[in-house]
Amino acid sequence: MKRGYFITFEGAEGSGKSTQIRNAVAFLKKKGYSVMMLREPGGTRVSERIRRILLDKNLKEMAPVTELLLYLAARAQIVRETILPALKKGKVVVCDRFEDSTRAYQGFGRRIPLAAIQRASKLARGTLKPDLTFVLDIDIAKGLRRGGRHDRIEREALSFHERVRKGFLTLAKKEPRRMIVLDAGKPAAWVSQKVRERLARVFGP
Ligand code: TMP
Repeated sequence: MKRGYFITFEGAEGSGKSTQIRNAVAFLKKKGYSVMMLREPGGTRVSERIRRILLDKNLKEMAPVTELLLYLAARAQIVRETILPALKKGKVVVCDRFEDSTRAYQGFGRRIPLAAIQRASKLARGTLKPDLTFVLDIDIAKGLRRGGRHDRIEREALSFHERVRKGFLTLAKKEPRRMIVLDAGKPAAWVSQKVRERLARVFGP
């Protein structure tokens, strides 16, 4: 049984996710909530090791389906080991990326059919879905300048990142109640304010 609340942050490279997540967590802690902050892929010993493989810039030969299954493997572990137990205890879990990243990067970016992703993805996450998701939308060139192009995914072509960006926006249109799109090209303080306003609707002002 799930009692807590599950929030995810999504968006392209350099969208300022980390700053926004830190601010959101501080806001919720100040209100007295017990908050757990996580990142995907990662957050457990097994998932952090998988992350190293996924982001290794030397592994250029990785097939898209291998990539998909590794992201899902990392998720299967963090869901069972960390997220579900925390939610069961009534915690607010804030996660840097989750399933929407898989749909955007491996679906729209790598062009793996979304129906296939959906089936495999359910195996990893079970019935768990975020209650609320913030999508930080940023101009791709601007984001990559901010974030750098260091790992295997960041080094992908601009056209790949454009598809990912459009992917997030398409997904958000389909689930507008859960997925809140914010213009991350605006100042960080503006974005933080919008995040806080939305959180206040759930957790109180
Ligand atoms: P991060 O750098 O934001 O921590 O994310 C790691 C990279 O992995 C980032 O480029 C997005 C990518 N990614 C996917 O391609 N699919 C996924 O399911 C997840 C969670 C991340």
